[in-house]
Amino acid sequence: MLSPLVSVSIPPPSATQHPYNRHAMTLAHALPILDLGPVRPTYAQGPRSLDAVRLLRISVTDRCNFRCVYCMPEDGVPFTEQNDLLSADDILDVARAAAEVGVTHFKVTGGEPTVRHDLIDIVRGLAALGPQDLSLTTNGVLLDKLARPLREAGLDRLTFSWDTMRPDRFARIARGAGRDGERALSQLRRGIDAALDAGFDRLKINVVVIGGVNDDEVADFARLTVDQPFTVRFIEYMPLGDATLIDLAGEDAALGSPYTVDNHDVRLAIEAELGPMRPVDRTSEAGVGPANVFRLPGAVGKIGFISAMSQPFCETCNRLRLTATGELRACLFEGGEVSVLPSLRNITDRDARTADLIDRMRQCVALKPDVHSQRGNRAMSQLGG
Ligand code: GTP
Ligand code: 5AD
Ligand code: SF4
Repeated sequence: MLSPLVSVSIPPPSATQHPYNRHAMTLAHALPILDLGPVRPTYAQGPRSLDAVRLLRISVTDRCNFRCVYCMPEDGVPFTEQNDLLSADDILDVARAAAEVGVTHFKVTGGEPTVRHDLIDIVRGLAALGPQDLSLTTNGVLLDKLARPLREAGLDRLTFSWDTMRPDRFARIARGAGRDGERALSQLRRGIDAALDAGFDRLKINVVVIGGVNDDEVADFARLTVDQPFTVRFIEYMPLGDATLIDLAGEDAALGSPYTVDNHDVRLAIEAELGPMRPVDRTSEAGVGPANVFRLPGAVGKIGFISAMSQPFCETCNRLRLTATGELRACLFEGGEVSVLPSLRNITDRDARTADLIDRMRQCVALKPDVHSQRGNRAMSQLGG
């Protein structure tokens, strides 16, 4: 089992000290007189210019067929009424404006994007804007039916969330329609097969690593890359909204108490079993995401680490988010929301609407924090990662 990311004996950090920097914390313990200072270089003020934005993450719904423990509380969050969601045309208006100011990548997210009935129309419309990269992140359970239509609509890439290969754990983590872990896991595997059959290559798999729960499976997931052209990414749990890992504790003696894990330790655990990894040229990896990417000896696929808690990457942040209800959001963690509804609802002239949307994007990106806080103020299901 991997050790916790945060030791309980560490005093609360000040605003300028990032709490999750394990190296800084270790030093602080050894040398109590050391002034930790900010983890980020002092020149890094965060990219607050629209010129830095390459990716628009578009959440098309806040609904999901799962209730993943790290994403939303078991009883869910109040879902948005259908009428309050942006329409497909609204979403495409915003995406078109983003494309005009240099956004070259679109990521479709949820909730679970595949539960939205007009998803294919949205994807077709986004593809028609001619982005360099159009991808979608999914839990995979509906992909056996949707992979081909998505491909035909012009989707370039798929990323699957897949945290455990064990049905009992799947049920504990995913809840909702994932309660039948055996069934959900086989649907997910069928979804991956359907994606490959439909011609999607460069598949990515997202594994949120939770200590005491699935951290003993990291080498099994890494091993998939030896003979499959997948990129398997290990993700540090990010505390957002009211979701809590505590829901995973107790009841089942086979599961320990959950805790957060530093990706540095995930890497060591994988290398101990499968050998040393070498960094991969990032430009060979699709997308402009925050993962650091490596390859195991002789492997076909790749391994990525998304370490938002131990090594925040905010100084290279290149994205804006659009929620399903029409807020532009500067950061996954906090603040920085600017509504696009006034542009969409009040401005009829198309060029004027686009100009107003661009102005709102500019206002929003200026609200990015230097570095994210310790807990995000909205559930992951409302933001789409
Ligand atoms: P691709 O590599 O193109 O698939 O994109 P991605 O890795 O950005 O997207 P994905 O939806 O697969 O998200 C992977 C993980 O990265 C999720 O846990 C996201 O919440 C997280 N993530 C994506 N973008 C950001 C970001 O800007 N900040 C933070 N803190 N986390 C992010
Ligand atoms: N922390 C880290 N990653 C998360 N995801 C969902 N919730 C969290 C969280 N709290 C991941 C899912 C999905 C992606 C969009 O975000 O695994 O693949
Ligand atoms: Fe950007 Fe916020 Fe993610 Fe940092 S945490 S990289 S500012 S979205």
